[in-house]
Amino acid sequence: MPPAADGRDCLGDAIRRAASGDPFAAGREADVFLLDDVRVLRRYRYATDTTHEAEVMAHAAGHGYPVPAVHAANGSDMVLERLRGPTMAQAGLAGEISLPECAAILAELLRRLHELPARSGHGGSTIVHLDLHPENVLLTERGPVVIDWRNAGDGPADLDTALTALILAQVAIGSIKHPLGAAAGELLDRFLELAPGDPTRLLDDAVALRRRQLTMSPEEIGALDTAAARVRHANADRPAGEIPTRRS
Ligand SMILES: Nc1ncnc2c1ncn2[C@@H]1O[C@H](COP(=O)(O)OP(=O)(O)O)[C@@H](O)[C@H]1O
Ligand SMILES: [Mg+2]
Repeated sequence: MPPAADGRDCLGDAIRRAASGDPFAAGREADVFLLDDVRVLRRYRYATDTTHEAEVMAHAAGHGYPVPAVHAANGSDMVLERLRGPTMAQAGLAGEISLPECAAILAELLRRLHELPARSGHGGSTIVHLDLHPENVLLTERGPVVIDWRNAGDGPADLDTALTALILAQVAIGSIKHPLGAAAGELLDRFLELAPGDPTRLLDDAVALRRRQLTMSPEEIGALDTAAARVRHANADRPAGEIPTRRS
């Protein structure tokens, strides 16, 4: 029987066509293909279920948080609103944005995210992204937009802030090779001055979580304690009076 010419089949055709070409962008886990002017296909390179990721994104979007709209999620594929603009890392490296500005945007994105209610409705937890760093923020005409919600869900705000700091420290100490290099250390120091909550309270949990991540190489895992020490060292300089109230 020939397929019905409904929207789903059209989308299926568009996905097949797009995925047979070259991705226009790629991260550690996913390739991103242009579907048309306004939509992209984001495809994990392994079999997985993107339902939960799409639900968390829809929840955040429903509360006015800047995420790409999710048009469809099926297995390893997501059809997302196409965002236009550089990643924060690209903009920083090109000198289009300063490190203090990057730090302020990261801190503000975390602060706003942690004001959202948890999907479970549990008090004491909020929505956490758990991978919010300069490669996962796109600077668009409508402002900074957060992508890559793979690890997101309900959780304690301080864990999210600790992970952002830890990831910056991994780059700062040279464990994760990234063109930002040592500039990530300056970014980390500024970020810790502005970050919401308590960035070190759940740092050990952040290290444990990162250790379990499949995308981490053995060398990166081996240097996690050094990265955590770098965060603690920088955070010791944080003015005590400016540490906002802790969440339970
Ligand atoms: N909605 C989008 N619109 C435009 N580009 C995107 C979009 N989502 C991702 N990208 C591009 O794809 C790259 C990798 O996406 P990301 O979701 O971070 O994948 P990974 O999980 O592999 O890191 C991003 O750096 C960005 O350049
Ligand atoms: Mg990413």
